[in-house]
Amino acid sequence: MANGSFEQKKPEACAFVIFGVTGDLTHRLVMPSLYNLAAAGLLPDKFCIVGIARKGMTSEKLRENLLEGLRKFATRPVEDEIAKRLLHCVTSVEADPSEPESFDHLKEQLEKLEAARNTGGNRLFYLATPPSAFAPIAQQLGRVGLLKEEGDAWRRLVVEKPFGTDLASAKALNDQLLELLTEHQIYRIDHYLGKETVQNIMVLRFANGMFEPIWNRHHIDHVQITVEEKLGVGHRGSFYDATGALRDMVPNHLFQLLSLVAMEPPARFDAHTVRNEKAEVLGAIQPQSEAEALTNSVRGQYTAGEIGDTEIPNYRGIKDVRADSTTETYAALKLTIDNWRWAGVPFYLRTGKALGLKRTEVAIKFRQAPFAMFSCTPIETLAENYLVIGIEPTQGITLQFNTKVPGPSIRTDGVQMKFNYKDYFQVEPATGYETLIYDCMIGDNILFQRADSVEAGWRAVQPFIDAWKKAGANGLQAYPAGSEGPDAATDLMARDGRSWRKLT
Ligand code: BG6
Repeated sequence: MANGSFEQKKPEACAFVIFGVTGDLTHRLVMPSLYNLAAAGLLPDKFCIVGIARKGMTSEKLRENLLEGLRKFATRPVEDEIAKRLLHCVTSVEADPSEPESFDHLKEQLEKLEAARNTGGNRLFYLATPPSAFAPIAQQLGRVGLLKEEGDAWRRLVVEKPFGTDLASAKALNDQLLELLTEHQIYRIDHYLGKETVQNIMVLRFANGMFEPIWNRHHIDHVQITVEEKLGVGHRGSFYDATGALRDMVPNHLFQLLSLVAMEPPARFDAHTVRNEKAEVLGAIQPQSEAEALTNSVRGQYTAGEIGDTEIPNYRGIKDVRADSTTETYAALKLTIDNWRWAGVPFYLRTGKALGLKRTEVAIKFRQAPFAMFSCTPIETLAENYLVIGIEPTQGITLQFNTKVPGPSIRTDGVQMKFNYKDYFQVEPATGYETLIYDCMIGDNILFQRADSVEAGWRAVQPFIDAWKKAGANGLQAYPAGSEGPDAATDLMARDGRSWRKLT
């Protein structure tokens, strides 16, 4: 993430080694991002891509496979010339952590390629694999000495989400990785940090003088973080049923939004300082007992319904989902942050699948005017004052306030002032991964999660995981696909005299 408006430089020479090279993630995000970087002239001149593929897959076959994926998932028309140049860098190598000797072979092959392409020994290992393979692959890479930094040559490991499935497993994975690498070599990806509007939260708060003085408990009533999806669980039944909405979305994506909104201003814009502040605020989320967690949460599971013209089947009828599953496809939580800025300001978080709308936003609700001086406008009819950071479907910022309705008497009405990204900036369609991959190559880990924030995130959600597990089917709310989610989520706010922001 470049600090300033200067031209982006090409990264240093390096080898980009992809585990899971024929998988969905590589096709959908990694290759299209590498293509976009190639098109923007932002790949190193001396570069090679090593795809760790299945047995017997030649480099030629792998290139064909990647080109097919690229044509399907690229965010812009694929130009033959650029694709050819990119795929020319690809070599297929076999390695499987269950056959340790294959990593000795990988080392030999990689060193030969590095010498031929003159990449100077800089290596980026990208784990686009199922999470169960993260530690075994890292262990083998470590055993053969591929992760050790020597001289000026850097060695980096990119780890995808999910990072652990609870606090204990996240800690164990951190411990395993930190035995093999130092923290600065590990890039834990959360794709939310690749989104422009998410990065913009820091700019909005810290590059403007007017928000910070009111960004606290004296002026802010509460914060709402919403990630609603229309998509159901689709073909991911087995993964999703073991995971659920809370683990899938909250300690990672929703907490990224929360930490950017709630962190203290960093003294400097560098990875160490920014990540300190983010970890600090996640660590300040008030721990809840299991009983409190039950009171302060809602979980739901979707039943059959319709979204537009599409029939959505009952969650429990999906392939690889247990017929008596109690996995939540919707989660809403109320959290508080124990520090001077936020004491007493609730943070309401909600996320769910198969809902009527796709919406990702952070809504900051300011305190109401203290009394109604305009006799014909009772206080409860004043429009609510919101600052809304829109991430999906509209990227932008909206300020909602009251204004006078034209006419002889004083009547007020709520209006919105909107900044829409695409009205101001021409942005090439992107996957959101370009910045993240580019940052890994230039060694800027400001947008990546550090071990302590990952653990702080899991620590905050652990009481909910434990309480829900014990409660089983008790308290699990059904909601029809295509709806706004369970009614109990409305009640969670209503009992505090508040409500979720309605779309106008
Ligand atoms: C992924 C989750 O990490 O994020 C998915 O595993 C979810 O279940 C996705 O659909 C949401 O991402 P986005 O960018 O569409 O909000």
